[in-house]
Amino acid sequence: MAEPLVLGVESSCDETGVGLVRGTTLLGHAVASSVEEHVRFGGVVPEVASRAHLEAMVPTLDRACAEAGVRLRDVDAIAVTSGPGLAGALLVGVGAAKALGIALDRPVYAVNHLAAHVAVDILEHGPLPTPTMALLVSGGHTNLLLVRDIASDIQSLGTTIDDAAGEAFDKVARVLGLPYPGGPHIDRAARDGTPSIRFPRGLTSGRDMERHRYDFSFSGLKTAVIRWVQATERAGEGVPVADVAASFQEAVADVLTRKAVLACREHDVHDMVLGGGVAANSRIRGLIEQRCAEAGIRLRVPRPGLCTDNGAMVAALGAQVLRAGQDPSPADFPADSSLPV
Ligand code: KG4
Ligand code: ZN
Repeated sequence: MAEPLVLGVESSCDETGVGLVRGTTLLGHAVASSVEEHVRFGGVVPEVASRAHLEAMVPTLDRACAEAGVRLRDVDAIAVTSGPGLAGALLVGVGAAKALGIALDRPVYAVNHLAAHVAVDILEHGPLPTPTMALLVSGGHTNLLLVRDIASDIQSLGTTIDDAAGEAFDKVARVLGLPYPGGPHIDRAARDGTPSIRFPRGLTSGRDMERHRYDFSFSGLKTAVIRWVQATERAGEGVPVADVAASFQEAVADVLTRKAVLACREHDVHDMVLGGGVAANSRIRGLIEQRCAEAGIRLRVPRPGLCTDNGAMVAALGAQVLRAGQDPSPADFPADSSLPV
């Protein structure tokens, strides 16, 4: 018997995503982003994002179905991100999924956004080895997850205690006069620079490391960059943007990859998935490839279009949850902005 056709709905931040997956095969997906509407604010404005989801949801559903070559009535089950994320944004996707569930008389599965970021790799590289370590880095999250079973057993080893990695990229870019979202601009600027300035690596030594072995902190790094730039300007010197970008990027890449590889070593894990929008960063990719190779860890990175928020990842996780035989969610399941894994 053919595997069920799962429709996935994502709306936790500024991307409205719909994906269609059968088993481990991606049939098609569509994403509408409101990022342009947030540019002048220098960050995602929740109310603006929610309104954009409302406007984009139905057209995105239509586009995804057209791309996959399926009709809504062909869908066997619906999966939706119920958290974590922006409360109002999540509500739009959850409401849409519930409405579809009622209209089509199909079961609805509430899934976790972070788990979905990991599950999407199944569409690219097949079943996940168990256990797998996942490093998720985006504008909204920075997580180190030990995945023993994608549908039912994910342990959060560490997270950021302040800014998300992408948030730090965006804030530092602003200080350097680069546009929002700043990550890609820092990445590009850094190519012409050298990481000659030694910026701090948060939570990597002494008591901080003892207490926060797998956690991250980027606000001290951000402050150090701001101070360095201000001091340079006060001295009447030009700010070497490329060098600052390269040095900041090196500090982020160093900490992320060092802790991810350490977590693998200490938990006897030999497979890693890198995900989230910041996974597009060339230095983070380069360094994690190098350090994984040195440590004998196989690395899996989904293509960039599946690393950023999308509906395919939600459908991919939904398909795994169905395979595991889990019950659908109750009709009144809530959106939960701080849903744990
Ligand atoms: O996953 P994503 O598209 O959205 C969420 O935050 O959920 O990630 C967006 C973040 C932004 O902070 C952006 O600056 C960052 O990813 N980003 C990058 C790069 N491309 C995107 N950061 C560093 N280097 C990049 N090449
Ligand atoms: Zn995300």
